[in-house]
Amino acid sequence: MVELVEKKQSILIKEHVFQLQTAHTSYVFHVLPTGHLEHLHYGEKVEFQDNYEAVFPKYEFVEGNLNTYNQENLNLGLENRCLEISTRGKGDIREPFVDITYPDGSNTCDFLYESYQIVKKQELEGLPSSYDENEEVETLIIILKDKNHPVELQLSYTSFYDTDVITRSSKLVNLGEESIQLERLLSAQLDLDEYGYTFTTFQGAWVREMERLDTVCKGGIVVNDSKTGGSSNRHNPFVMLSAEGTTEEAGDSYGCNLIYSGNHYEAVEVNGYETTHFLAGINPFGFSYNIGAGESFSSPEAVLTYSNQGFSGISRQMHQFVREHVVRGTWKKKERPILLNSWEAFYFDFNESKLLKLARAGKKVGIELFVLDDGWFGERNDDTSSLGDWYVNKKKLPNGLNGLSKKINALGMDFGIWVEPEMVNRKSMCYEEHPEYAIEIPGQDQSLGRNQLILDLTKVEVQDYIIEQMIAVFGSANISYVKWDMNRIVSDAFSTGLDNRSQGEFYHRYILGLYRVLDVLTKQFPEILFESCASGGNRFDLGMISYMPQVWASDNTDAICRAKIQTGYSYGYPMSTIGAHVSSCPNHQTLRTTLLETRFSVACFGLLGYECNLADLGNKELEAIKEQIAWYKQYRKTLQYGDYYRMKNGENRCYQWMVVDRDTSKAVGVYLQKDVKANYVTGKFKTKGLAEDKKYHFTNRLQVFDVREFGDLINMISPIHIKQDGVLHQIAAQFVKMNSEVEDYEIMGNVLNHIGVRLRQGFGGTGYNDNTRFFQDYTSRIYIMEEIN
Ligand code: GLA
Repeated sequence: MVELVEKKQSILIKEHVFQLQTAHTSYVFHVLPTGHLEHLHYGEKVEFQDNYEAVFPKYEFVEGNLNTYNQENLNLGLENRCLEISTRGKGDIREPFVDITYPDGSNTCDFLYESYQIVKKQELEGLPSSYDENEEVETLIIILKDKNHPVELQLSYTSFYDTDVITRSSKLVNLGEESIQLERLLSAQLDLDEYGYTFTTFQGAWVREMERLDTVCKGGIVVNDSKTGGSSNRHNPFVMLSAEGTTEEAGDSYGCNLIYSGNHYEAVEVNGYETTHFLAGINPFGFSYNIGAGESFSSPEAVLTYSNQGFSGISRQMHQFVREHVVRGTWKKKERPILLNSWEAFYFDFNESKLLKLARAGKKVGIELFVLDDGWFGERNDDTSSLGDWYVNKKKLPNGLNGLSKKINALGMDFGIWVEPEMVNRKSMCYEEHPEYAIEIPGQDQSLGRNQLILDLTKVEVQDYIIEQMIAVFGSANISYVKWDMNRIVSDAFSTGLDNRSQGEFYHRYILGLYRVLDVLTKQFPEILFESCASGGNRFDLGMISYMPQVWASDNTDAICRAKIQTGYSYGYPMSTIGAHVSSCPNHQTLRTTLLETRFSVACFGLLGYECNLADLGNKELEAIKEQIAWYKQYRKTLQYGDYYRMKNGENRCYQWMVVDRDTSKAVGVYLQKDVKANYVTGKFKTKGLAEDKKYHFTNRLQVFDVREFGDLINMISPIHIKQDGVLHQIAAQFVKMNSEVEDYEIMGNVLNHIGVRLRQGFGGTGYNDNTRFFQDYTSRIYIMEEIN
């Protein structure tokens, strides 16, 4: 018998019932008489009961032809119980949580309850994990032992009360004298006694990250995973599981993410008994770990959240959790600088004077941070050489990084650089000197990605080499920002540093090596703002975000594509992690042309930057950018750290999002139109998240349109005939200013939230005046709501 323990109401225990509480949710399980852990509930908050008899599943006889667990428990068949962990061999035939090959070659595990502990939340060895600034959070550790082997399994549960998150991780300890082979150890299992849940995953490819995919699970196994060596843009590790009928605003929904950057695995299995079995953790694919006598293995932390407020509830809880308990360091809550990146302006073709010209143009419009992207080192004039040679290219930068940074600083901007430290080109001094540092299977032809090989971060000497190289680079100039890139996926997975029985450790050891490197460097340079990147979003995950507060979300800077990509990210990641830039048009990835204001409207719902040759722009565009930046600075805190809401996700040809300051005094919304529907002139902006009882001033960000957008319709108002694109048309464009419509209302939050503003009539081909909303394909409006005191 265990006494009731109350720890800040977040861990409650009585008579082998364990209940984790958060502000609005409960997670309950108990120990069966056999010692197995049976899951009872994860969802809506419930009061702790003295007696839980009523909710224990009732079994008198084993069902059908299920195997009975043992002779003393003829009513127990593990195949159909909701369990905290599934194992192989005792009748549970679902995907296991843990899988071990024991010295005799057998795989049967039978982990039974031993004891529990409550400890202060601890860091995971070698892995990033969530934390609590006030160190108030505690972890419940359940200790299980294999009935037949000297092996212990510890299951850790931490309740983050305010953010409604429960994290889980596990640790396997070999207490025996012989090595065992760990074939998998996952982080979370969630068994639900219903089926038909929708598994929402986010899949994609380069410049096409985070496309939402909904799969209804009524039978079989659906897997979302990565085998790329990183978390990947193919399938992001953030997933949701929702009851039938869940919408943006309502419905039971679970969100799960992993604090991990390597191969991951999330699976939903539904059996013939109509129960749902969800698993998340390191991908068992290519994984096999030797655990020697006395050694242990820790799985990464899984982040679970439940909401009855549909997808928007999950998103807000995840956002708050990531901001408070994952992102750390100097930049955690600081407003992020507006940067100008050199990549799309010059690619590899630059020198100091070109860079300074660009920087000066940036300074004039209000840029705060100048970022020198790829091409500054070795003989790097294209992507075939020099990765690994982290010394400055003196032909391009005769005064070195230091000389350049001083000039940038003198202009009044911070200076940042791009690096890709995990990689090496065969054409490099690094490879010539240390071919053994690269991942290659000796004697075999290797597959390349972007002409490069990956350095073998499983080796300590390679980790040390990268650390040393980067300390030299970061210390060589006044560097305030680093974009840490990684531009290929793993192939030919193999390490000459591991023996032939240990190659199954390669993928995970790579990530552990990477984490060691990042840990040392981010601690050594705590003031540097790090932005993670992997060809855009090929490694957008909570592991990287634990070291680097922001991520370059996609190499796609096309506003219309970006709207979809950023919507995808927004389900699991806060705006303060999503890098978003305004670039030139026709866009370099799609050749699509959109208005400068449209590109801004989308980019400002992330961490705003510019990535184009400002020095080539005309005064009109530069003035517009200057105004955009000044405006963004005014609302930056709200845009980067406010509560985020999706109103329209691409349906009905549009996107509508908004962010509301945490104190609800200010909000910014965007309405982006993908394509026009003829003779459809109504428009509505119905808000979310404003304080019901506050009065707001609702306005729109004014825009100025080019009269040429009307083509030869200009003749409807011109006293003389104007030939389209002719000289008169150009002159008219210079002198005739077409201001956007004005929206200006004082109105209660509850009216905005429940009725919305009926916007000015859109252009519908029957007339046009000052009150008409010029709203063609790819146009946008930003709406501002400010509390009136
Ligand atoms: C990747 C990044 C880009 C840019 C290039 C440089 O593709 O995602 O932003 O830095 O590398 O080579």
